[in-house]
Amino acid sequence: MARWPKPAEGSWTQHYPDLGTGPISFRDSTSPEFYAAEREAIFKRAWLNVARVEELPRVGSYLTKDIAAVGTSIIVVKGKDQTIRAFHNICRHRGNKLVWNDFPNEETKGVCRQFTCKYHGWRYDLDGALTFVQQESEFFDLDRDAYGLRPVHCDVWNGFVFVNFDDEPRQTLREFLGPMVTALDGYPFDKLTERYDWVADNNSNWKIFADAFQEYYHVPSLHPQQVPPAVRDPNAGFECAHFQIDGPHRLVSTAGTRRWLLAPEYMYPIERATRSGLVGPWRTPDLGELPAGLNPGGIEPWGISNFQIFPNLEILIYGGWYLLYRYWPTSHNTHRFEAYTAFHPARSVRERIEHEVAAVVLKEFALQDAGMLGGTQAALETGIVDEFPLNDQEILVRHLHRVVGDWVAEYQAERTPVGASRG
Ligand code: FES
Ligand SMILES: [Fe+2]
Repeated sequence: MARWPKPAEGSWTQHYPDLGTGPISFRDSTSPEFYAAEREAIFKRAWLNVARVEELPRVGSYLTKDIAAVGTSIIVVKGKDQTIRAFHNICRHRGNKLVWNDFPNEETKGVCRQFTCKYHGWRYDLDGALTFVQQESEFFDLDRDAYGLRPVHCDVWNGFVFVNFDDEPRQTLREFLGPMVTALDGYPFDKLTERYDWVADNNSNWKIFADAFQEYYHVPSLHPQQVPPAVRDPNAGFECAHFQIDGPHRLVSTAGTRRWLLAPEYMYPIERATRSGLVGPWRTPDLGELPAGLNPGGIEPWGISNFQIFPNLEILIYGGWYLLYRYWPTSHNTHRFEAYTAFHPARSVRERIEHEVAAVVLKEFALQDAGMLGGTQAALETGIVDEFPLNDQEILVRHLHRVVGDWVAEYQAERTPVGASRG
């Protein structure tokens, strides 16, 4: 019995006929060769979110970001003109990593007036210009203008800082994000600045973990504490109210289940005591009118909308607060998972506790998902089985692997010389 209407074609998947309905392969998540292709085809060509503008509040605020999939470290910095720029984190003199603190392989952040190389003291302005060369007269016709920091394309959408490693990105950031994602314009991300961050190194391909957060089919079996008795009934399942695909991006919305309506035995005691938990604080301040793009399916009562922004960003909005995940591949079968929850700044001790409890309980549930990963990856790597059926609730899993395959195939086709023999 469908509780939410499906598209006229009979299913969400058939509404997007290019996706097909057959079993899929996960070889794209076990193959070192495929990962090598993904790095070139996807991570060096798509727009990648690396920060929020609140992390760079002042002129000279900077952070470094090491992106293994691209094989580089970058500096992201706010310039004197308030523009946020990105540069490869490499000194133009003899290639030292320019910005780091105690350990060259760890990321760092801070505020400075200029960047000074630790090795021979060359200095660079906030806009990347080379401004000082030690003993300049010892060099041979050194043109300082030719030795600025190597820039990386950088742009900001709704306070999210993105970079792009392509020589010449084929789309602007806004074009890349497309109408479904930019319909979130006006959502008050800038008001939700109280953040709880965490990072985990996981033993799975990056897509395998993304998959765990883009379907809710697993909820009744993997997170049984989370769902009310009616849903725990194995015959009831869990059905999302709306799916949508736009280019390489996708979203899913659920209908609202308000935690405080659930039976108390399905909460941790601290959730009852603090009136906060897995779905966040039970009350959040009124953020004013929210953009229609937050709930494009018009679901009533609306629960959450989960935007999966290609390739490795997820923004999950609960109305008055949101959480963000990024999946950074570090090899074909490992990735670094970055996550944070973001709330309005607490106005009282009670609100602060509500936020902390929400962050901790959420992390507990994310660990249940993460706990599956090593097992999934190891079993997939046996290669014994390579055809996996996906149901209609898993349409977004199907779409991610399809888009990844398409980007890799397109990249490889562009590099096949015209007229090359295929015989
Ligand atoms: S390597 Fe940076 S100043 Fe020499
Ligand atoms: Fe989960």
